[in-house]
Amino acid sequence: MEQVTIGMIGGGTVGSGVYNALKLNRALMERRLGIKINLLKIAVKAFDEPRPYPIPRGLLTTNWREVVEDPRVQIIIELVGGTTIARDIILTALKLGKPVITANKALLSAYGEELFSAAATNNANIYYEASVAGGIPIIKAIREAFVGNRITHIYGIVNGTCNYILTKMKEEGSDFAQVLEQAQKQGYAEAEPSLDVDGWDSMHKIGILASLAHGFWVSPEKIFVEGIRPVSLMDIRFAEQLGYTIKLLGIVKQIDSTASKGKSSRIQVSVYPALIPSSHVLARINDIFNAVFVRGNIVGETLFFGRGAGKDATASAVLSDIADAALDLKYETKSRLRPFVSHEKNGEIVPIGEVKSQYYIRLAVVDKPGVLAKISTIFGDSKISIASVIQPESRETEIVPLIMMIHSAPNSAMEKALSKIEKLPVVKSKPVMLRVENF
Ligand code: NDP
Ligand code: HSE
Repeated sequence: MEQVTIGMIGGGTVGSGVYNALKLNRALMERRLGIKINLLKIAVKAFDEPRPYPIPRGLLTTNWREVVEDPRVQIIIELVGGTTIARDIILTALKLGKPVITANKALLSAYGEELFSAAATNNANIYYEASVAGGIPIIKAIREAFVGNRITHIYGIVNGTCNYILTKMKEEGSDFAQVLEQAQKQGYAEAEPSLDVDGWDSMHKIGILASLAHGFWVSPEKIFVEGIRPVSLMDIRFAEQLGYTIKLLGIVKQIDSTASKGKSSRIQVSVYPALIPSSHVLARINDIFNAVFVRGNIVGETLFFGRGAGKDATASAVLSDIADAALDLKYETKSRLRPFVSHEKNGEIVPIGEVKSQYYIRLAVVDKPGVLAKISTIFGDSKISIASVIQPESRETEIVPLIMMIHSAPNSAMEKALSKIEKLPVVKSKPVMLRVENF
């Protein structure tokens, strides 16, 4: 049996998960692949750090170059995280012509163009199944299974921490800060909570999927991002009353029909908390689970569900990349599935202002005659149409919530109308605006 020799940098949550998963299933994988897998060395920061799964001291080094530059090591797995040392590790490996496996969505988002170009120059692949939605094989699905489709829509619940927070708020009426602390204790949240709750982690992931699905590099600066901080328990309850559930979605949508006539893609790429019909399958994806809904023009609607994070689920994705990298080395098929193909030369991200959405609006208004008329006039003047209104009765206070569902309108028109509404003396706080996705 042929053998492939692997070196890993990082032995933390995911790295030790990979070590353990190989210990459990190495023989099975070897029989399936017809290739022996030899994990030669693992670089870590400090020898005595506690790890989710223990790694024998003899395998460890604290010098990553010892792993990457070892001529016996054929495949490099980067599981350090961050955008500094990880970038050096990957570029060094690629320059040596060694294929790289990474779970590092933050690095791919920030430096993907540079890394994929270095991979192409050095004729060495980058494999990154673990970078989006952990154990869910969504990269493989988009890159391989849907290669014959034009992908018109991707809706992803791709951040487990935010999904956990929104689920607990809805089901238990829990307070945001308290649930975030629970999510951090479970080991899913990023060390810097803003990466999760402000939508940045979802942005990294949805940018990777958008680039892959549409064949041009989607720069993170072009992605509209809003996190879950504006979502209150009150909004969750009103949404429920209206038949909706609030989820943080990563969205990639083909905007116009020119793409289907063989011209360039014009796409929306965004992350925001959205009201989705409670009857939709995505509304039932709870806790830390992830799901990605993909619509292709041939396949129709598909749904991928599973654990988007954690030592074992993420290790499963890394193992799949190890198998691909090993097979590509064995059969010399490095270019069979190029890591990222920029086949669309004129792809374009549509600015959020031009995107049309439906909306949920919550205002805090003085409960007196004429208020609704003033607000409706501003919407009417902006050619924005109100679909329905709820104003709960209240005898205790003269400030009441006013909930409005709004028909499809451009985001720029909506922003302008809301800034006028906010200035009305009868409106007592900043309006809450959430988008509605009816699929
Ligand atoms: P951890 O912080 O748990 O592990 C990081 C590892 O890198 C540690 O073993 C650390 O060593 C090692 N390390 C840090 N600096 C160096 C260095 N200079 N040289 C060598 N080793 C170093 O991170 P995770 O395992 O959680 O994440 C790894 C990657 O996987 C990240 O890119 C993350 O975004 C991604 N990811 C993580 C998921 C998860 O559920 N955790 C899910 C999907 C992707 P030491 O152990 O000595 O501290
Ligand atoms: N913090 C991320 C999440 C980890 O909550 O989904 C997995 O990428």
